[in-house]
Amino acid sequence: MTVIDSVRLEQVRKTYGKGNGAVAALDGVSIGFRQGTFTAVMGPSGSGKSTFLHCAAGLDRPTAGSVQLDGVELTGLREKALTRLRRDKIGFIFQAFNLLPALTVAQNITLPLRLAGRHADKAALAEVVGRVGLDQRLRHRPAQLSGGQQQRVAIARALVTRPAVIFADEPTGALDTRTAREVLGLLRQSVSNGGQTIVMVTHDPVAASFADRVVFLADGRLVDELHRPTPETVAERMTHLGAWAGAA
Ligand SMILES: Nc1ncnc2c1ncn2[C@@H]1O[C@H](COP(=O)(O)OP(=O)(O)O)[C@@H](O)[C@H]1O
Ligand SMILES: [Mg+2]
Repeated sequence: MTVIDSVRLEQVRKTYGKGNGAVAALDGVSIGFRQGTFTAVMGPSGSGKSTFLHCAAGLDRPTAGSVQLDGVELTGLREKALTRLRRDKIGFIFQAFNLLPALTVAQNITLPLRLAGRHADKAALAEVVGRVGLDQRLRHRPAQLSGGQQQRVAIARALVTRPAVIFADEPTGALDTRTAREVLGLLRQSVSNGGQTIVMVTHDPVAASFADRVVFLADGRLVDELHRPTPETVAERMTHLGAWAGAA
């Protein structure tokens, strides 16, 4: 049986600038993310984490190499097809929540469905809202919610299209410790119970310990990998890799 990765990168390079000033933000990265797994991506500031996430999500085009999403090669796609694929197959969660302030919670959550021209049916909404525990907040606006509640709206919005993969860039970076744990618990549940695939950039060993696997980037290369991480093993590995200036 062939197992198709939700996401697969093969020898991905991303170079910014030209000539002497050229920077290899990604320098030959190959990795796969199996369906129903939770991976944390860590690395010092400038190691290429954001570039990695953007290339894997089809938001940025690699200079060389291949990116496959749910078995579809992204690198040859035109902009329109790429946009459609992103809408169908990818969910995003950002540090800053990125909710639309004028829309209600329910409208924010179902926005990706409407953008994709899909029917925002009540059952799909009720299911994700139940999962993140926002049943009593559907008519509220984002400004009426706490940070943790806003991030739960963003998680529901990412889950509602049932994407092949959810990419999260420091999703707990703006939350206090207790709220961060609740949010991470929700992400963990959507993997363990819902079979969701998640790739999350973080610099926090506790956040990383919610994942099944941690991969470490340094200077645009994958340099290490840890399975069944604990906060202690992650912190220890970070110390060994050195030069961690509170990466972001
Ligand atoms: N748009 C850009 N133009 C030029 N250089 C960039 C650009 N984006 C990132 N870089 C460079 O690529 C490297 C990796 O950046 P980035 O992916 O943002 O790292 P991280 O998210 O780990 O901090 C850094 O040296 C950064 O300065
Ligand atoms: Mg970054």
